[in-house]
Amino acid sequence: MSQPTRSVIITGTGSYSPAKVLTNDDMSKIVDTSDEWIRTRSGISERCFAAQGEKTSDMAVAAAEKAILAAGIDRSDIDLIIVATMTPDMPFPSTACILQSKLGLGNITAFDIQAACSGFIYALNTGSNMLRSGAYKKALIIGAEKMSSILDFQDRTTCVLFGDAASAIIIEASETAGVGVLGSIAGSDGSDPSLLYQPAGGSTIPPSHESIDARQHFIKMNGKEIFKQAVRVMGQVSSDILKQYSFTSDQIDLLIPHQANMRIIDSLAKRMKLPLEKFHNNLDRFGNTSGASVGLALDEAYQMGRIQSGDLILLVAFGAGLTWGASLIKWQ
Ligand code: UT7
Repeated sequence: MSQPTRSVIITGTGSYSPAKVLTNDDMSKIVDTSDEWIRTRSGISERCFAAQGEKTSDMAVAAAEKAILAAGIDRSDIDLIIVATMTPDMPFPSTACILQSKLGLGNITAFDIQAACSGFIYALNTGSNMLRSGAYKKALIIGAEKMSSILDFQDRTTCVLFGDAASAIIIEASETAGVGVLGSIAGSDGSDPSLLYQPAGGSTIPPSHESIDARQHFIKMNGKEIFKQAVRVMGQVSSDILKQYSFTSDQIDLLIPHQANMRIIDSLAKRMKLPLEKFHNNLDRFGNTSGASVGLALDEAYQMGRIQSGDLILLVAFGAGLTWGASLIKWQ
């Protein structure tokens, strides 16, 4: 495939996780579970939950401030904000608009993307293409989730798995060819939304006393089916993007997968014939932070010095929708 003439590079990363940490033992005081079950079935040891009144946009601001600082840019040069979230501050206006004001940015293009756990890659894909078009120069890409606001703390099959966090990157257009976001792919299959969904609160079941009594404003998940699909699709999309850009899996320096379940990541590693050392995982400390997860792991990997100039990095995610996506990055 021919390279796009305009490159898009990541010039700054940042992330934020709330101060309140709940261990698996803490969760076992809320629902009938155990540290042993959560660790062996998911790989999660602890997660962070936002404080009372701490909003998705508050976490997004904290992550964005760090990314802006790391990029060393003047924030007034940012001309695009995309926020990936399934837990916005409110159904509308978008969290991106709220962020535009909180960060004191100009009257720039700002919108949310809702692609659940694939959101960060959907946002990166969309933002990169908007920069490649020449219409935009510097974009703030955010993944931010207050998952605790939609968790059912009476449902042990879901509430132990998720956490709150925000991640941010600055992407910029560059004239240097062959570096940065080489390409992204994204897909969907909406044939069975009930595999992973929040039944009420939209136009299907507007909020009512009944919907609240039936606990329909919380996440519902068919974990087993989602697990099977995640293993299959993340493997497929990873090999698809490598093939599309003429790379092989042994050329990957670092793979950053969506952090949902360590057993899914283990299966992906086996399928791709890659050692786990090539993966960056932080699921044990943050749980599944949905749209924030890939960016959270990317920022951590960068801060830890795991990403060097010239490295080939693969981001891959899967989530509700169903949605999936992958991005291939040659770090500049
Ligand atoms: O980010 C979006 C994508 N999401 C995912 O990728 C999540 C994918 N799914 C998964 O990660 C796994 O399916 C889970 C971690 C959710 C569940 O693991 P599993 O091995 O599929 O367990 P299961 O649902 O088959 O449940 C096994 C048993 C059940 O008991 P019985 O019916 O065998 O007696 C559950 O009731 O474990 C029980 N169980 C629990 N026990 C203790 C379910 N949740 C818990 C819990 N603590 N928290």
